[in-house]
Amino acid sequence: MTNLQIFLDVATEAALAGGGILQSYLGKLEDAIIEKGRPGDLVTAADKASEEVVLEILRRHFPQHSILAEESGKLGDGESECLWAIDPLDGTTNYAHQYPFFAVSIGLLINGVPQVGVIYDPFHNELFRAAAGLGATRNRRPITVSATSELNKSLLVTGFAYDRRETSDNNYAEFCHFTHLTQGVRRSGSASLDLAYVACGRVDGYWERGLSPWDIVAGIILVQEAGGKVTAYDGTPLKIESGRILATNSHIHNTVSRELLQVPPLSAWK
Ligand code: IPD
Ligand code: CA
Ligand code: CA
Ligand code: CA
Repeated sequence: MTNLQIFLDVATEAALAGGGILQSYLGKLEDAIIEKGRPGDLVTAADKASEEVVLEILRRHFPQHSILAEESGKLGDGESECLWAIDPLDGTTNYAHQYPFFAVSIGLLINGVPQVGVIYDPFHNELFRAAAGLGATRNRRPITVSATSELNKSLLVTGFAYDRRETSDNNYAEFCHFTHLTQGVRRSGSASLDLAYVACGRVDGYWERGLSPWDIVAGIILVQEAGGKVTAYDGTPLKIESGRILATNSHIHNTVSRELLQVPPLSAWK
């Protein structure tokens, strides 16, 4: 077995364990939901319990690897070429409201490049997996991106970061622009599932700003292995730390990128 296959299998074990925890806490949180800082930026007992089990499994198998986890921050000495980016509950707002759209996302960067990704949606029991050169799957069956090549026939998805009240760069104008140009724009509340849905062809493209590595590392390799394209908004190579991503089925990529760079101001939609 190659190393990537081993990494993929351990990440799967961890994602399934985290997902099991999320399912078991769902609807039973009572007062175990708190605001982390910005209004609406929540953390729950389920985020923490899921992260604990994911960390335990990854550290047991790969004690030398570095980790970046949403609720625990950076772990390890930073010496390893392997860095796990972990979101133990992607879609906390949905989860806190019992809106059933959330996932565990576990991605592996090797020398800064996404190589392995597992995204598990426990409510719908959908397991998305990918590793570089090994393809992408949903519940162990191969997946590919959609074939849609026209923007006006496409369905897109996006999201709004927790700092949206503090900046005019909040993606609202982009949302209006693409709502006008496409069959629709969705806001699911889970960045990792947005990327997984691009990978399996349920949406044709996704863009968002204000993201963290744990939101997107797993999804990036999933989209790439499913035949899609992932770049910065302007089509140049993605810098994960920029927090801005454009991921599409590849066919509409240049068109979406061009439109993203010429979005009219919000006042144009009033
Ligand atoms: C959030 C979700 C959401 C995205 C936010 C993320 P969290 O992650 O992925 O879809 O729009 O920017 O922070 O906080 O639920 O893990
Ligand atoms: Ca997240
Ligand atoms: Ca999270
Ligand atoms: Ca969060």
